[in-house]
Amino acid sequence: MEDDRIVSPGALSHDADPGLRPQWLRDYIGQDRIKDRLAIFIEASQQRREALDHVLLYGPPGLGKTTLAHIIANELGVHIRFTSGPAIERAGDLASVLTNLEAGDVLFIDEIHRLARTVEEVLYPAMEDFHLDIMLGKGPSARSVRLDLPRFTLIGATTRAGMLTAPLRDRFGVIVHLDFYDTKDLTDIVKRSAQLLGVHLDAAAALEIARRSRGTPRIANRLLRRLRDYVEVKGDGEITYAMAEEGLKMLEVDPHGLDAVDHRLLDALYYRYQGGPAGLETLAAAIGEESGTIEDVYEPYLLQQGYIQRTPRGRTLTALACERMGWPVPQELSQRSLFEP
Ligand code: ADE
Repeated sequence: MEDDRIVSPGALSHDADPGLRPQWLRDYIGQDRIKDRLAIFIEASQQRREALDHVLLYGPPGLGKTTLAHIIANELGVHIRFTSGPAIERAGDLASVLTNLEAGDVLFIDEIHRLARTVEEVLYPAMEDFHLDIMLGKGPSARSVRLDLPRFTLIGATTRAGMLTAPLRDRFGVIVHLDFYDTKDLTDIVKRSAQLLGVHLDAAAALEIARRSRGTPRIANRLLRRLRDYVEVKGDGEITYAMAEEGLKMLEVDPHGLDAVDHRLLDALYYRYQGGPAGLETLAAAIGEESGTIEDVYEPYLLQQGYIQRTPRGRTLTALACERMGWPVPQELSQRSLFEP
C-alpha cells in the first residue's frame, strides 16, 4: 500500500543512500530559517561547552528530520545514537541506551509520539535533570536508586507535534517545524543529487521532477533514481525533459505530483460524498488505507496545496481540486466554501 507508491514519503529500504544525505548545515538546501536558528544554538552551546538543549523536529515524513539530526551531531562533533519510540519497549531499554551515552552525545528518537507512557515517564527526569530513578527489588524491600547521566541532547522526531503529551513537548528547548520545500529548493536538491549519482540531468527535467515531488526531498530523490533507471534502459542515460515526462508518466505521477492513491482519495470525496464532508475513518475505509497514514502521509500535502480542507464535520474537497481534476464544482461545495474556513 503506502510503501509501494513511488511518491510515498515514507522511507523505503532502497532509499538508504547515505551518499545523497547532506552532512553539514552548509550542504543542506532549503529550510533557511531553521538552519539559521540551529546554527546559532549549536554555536552558543559550543561556546558554553554545554550540551545543546533538547530539540523536537516535527513535520511530514521525508522532509529531512533524520538528516538534520545527523547534521546537528556532526556540527557539534559528538556521537549520535538512533532509536525510535516503538523500539523502546520497556523503561529498562531506555535506561540502557541512556547510560551508554557520553557527555554531549545526541540521542535521536524517531516517532517519539509512539513511546510507551511508562518509558516516557523515565525520560522526563533524564531530560530535565539528567538522572534516572531505578527501582531495585520488589515489594517491601524495593528501593529507588538515583543514577546520574551524562548531559546529553535528545532529538525527537514526529510527524505531528500535537500527538505528543504536553509534559514531553514542554521539555524540549528547541522546537522546529519542517514544512514542504518550494520548487526552487527542490530543483537544487535534485541537481545536487544528480551530480552525486553521476547522472546527466537537464535544467528543465530537474524542474519537472521538483514540481512533481510533493514538496518532499525524499520523493524528489526517489523519482530521480527511477528516472535514471528509465533513461539507462530506454534512452542514452541522460535525463532530458522529454525523457523525464515519459518516465514520470510510466511511474503514474501526474503533473501535480499526485499518484493513484491521491486520486482515489479525491475521487472518493467527489463521487461518494459529493465533495464532503466525510469523516477521516469513513474516507479511510472507502479507499482502503489506514486513517493514520492518510493523516500523516497523504493529507498534509493535499491540505497545503488547497485540494482539501479539514472542517469540524470532516474533510471536504475544494473548488480548486475540482478545477484541477476537471470536475464541475458541486453547487453545494461552492456555496459552502464561502462560509467555512
Ligand atoms: N537531500 C535530501 N534533502 C536534502 C536537502 N535539504 N539538502 C540537500 N540535499 C538533500
